[in-house]
Amino acid sequence: MDKFLENLLLKYIVTNTDKYSEYTSSSSSVDLIISCTVLEHIRPFEMHISNLVDILSTGGKMLHIVDFRDHDHRKVKDDPYRYWRFLISDNVRCAKSCNRLRHSQMMQAFKKYGLKIREIDLYQKQLPNGLQEQLLPRFQSIPKKDLKILMATYLLQKR
Ligand SMILES: C[S@@+](CC[C@H](N)C(=O)[O-])C[C@H]1O[C@@H](n2cnc3c(N)ncnc32)[C@H](O)[C@@H]1O
Repeated sequence: MDKFLENLLLKYIVTNTDKYSEYTSSSSSVDLIISCTVLEHIRPFEMHISNLVDILSTGGKMLHIVDFRDHDHRKVKDDPYRYWRFLISDNVRCAKSCNRLRHSQMMQAFKKYGLKIREIDLYQKQLPNGLQEQLLPRFQSIPKKDLKILMATYLLQKR
């Protein structure tokens, strides 16, 4: 991992930030922010995105990998609704640890805070029959195209 980071030719590397809210970086001081399966946990989402944009330099980039699946889906392999269980019940682990936002809501926030969307890579799956009727009432209006997106990689740039 150290060699990998070295090969990125970065001058300063700051890793393992525990909480986005505890950043000590000053405004416009960071050129690259990378996260892997973190954005689906942060809340309030917009506040953290706004903080990240603040510390990013103009032209600076962010690469975020987001997992929109219930993170315990491997424990219930036979359940056709396993990726969406945290939208079906409030009493599963991921309902508490995840913000339960979907792709289009994250995109709205990225755009709202002036980020240019440079690239998006989506991993999608067909929905199982009857999924939407199973969802908690407040999630039933999520469009099918949003429910289908299970993973996303975003490459964003500050204007
Ligand atoms: C699913 S784990 C992913 C861990 C690691 N990035 C990986 O790919 O293996 C989710 C991570 O999000 C982190 N996290 C949750 N809320 C956060 C916040 N507000 N600021 C920074 N990290 C946060 C947790 O500490 C946890 O390590």
